[in-house]
Amino acid sequence: MIKVAVLVSGGGTNLQAIIDRVKDKTITNAEISVVISNNPGAFALKRAEDAGIKNICISPKDFDSRDLFNKALIAVLDKEKVDLVVLAGFLVIIPSEMVKKYKGRIINIHPSLIPSFCGTGYYGLKVHEAALDRGVKVTGATVHFVDEGTDTGPIILQKAVEVKEGDTPEVLQRRVMEEAEWKILPEAINLIANGKVKLGC
Ligand code: GAR
Repeated sequence: MIKVAVLVSGGGTNLQAIIDRVKDKTITNAEISVVISNNPGAFALKRAEDAGIKNICISPKDFDSRDLFNKALIAVLDKEKVDLVVLAGFLVIIPSEMVKKYKGRIINIHPSLIPSFCGTGYYGLKVHEAALDRGVKVTGATVHFVDEGTDTGPIILQKAVEVKEGDTPEVLQRRVMEEAEWKILPEAINLIANGKVKLGC
């Protein structure tokens, strides 16, 4: 059974998808040990609480320096003896110290088909705004390992989603979540938990 930490910043619909798939046993051999948010107001924390999962807020605002915040974040992961860190809408730059220590054990969901619409500045709704501005007909979501770059690590799963006439960023975001993110993120965790995708690569 692998121990999973899920890091969140906002609504936590991806967290909810993971919780639901663990509950209905679509994900096996994995338990969510802790949910961590940088944002005290994140609805994701309530989702964790309602599911009876340990949840903690670690906000950079509560620390005198970024370094102290980074150390606090890593200390929680170490204390929980986490095997896998899942970034599910975690909008904080991951400290390089953490990337090194947890190399090959951190995965991220990004709401586009990497390498399109990714990298610095591309997060949340901005990704879908950029996709619509460019006029792409197909977008999607990607689960990838996290390395030192932004959205540059090895890709684990991708799923394409159709862009429809008249889409707004909000409508497209919802379709990408429903048709891609909420499926491939739990699927990637299940593949890792069952040794089909190797950790530490
Ligand atoms: C998701 O769409 C996720 O892909 C995106 O933030 C949203 C979080 O929603 N992440 C990024 O843009 C990372 N670059 P959620 O809190 O409802 O899961």
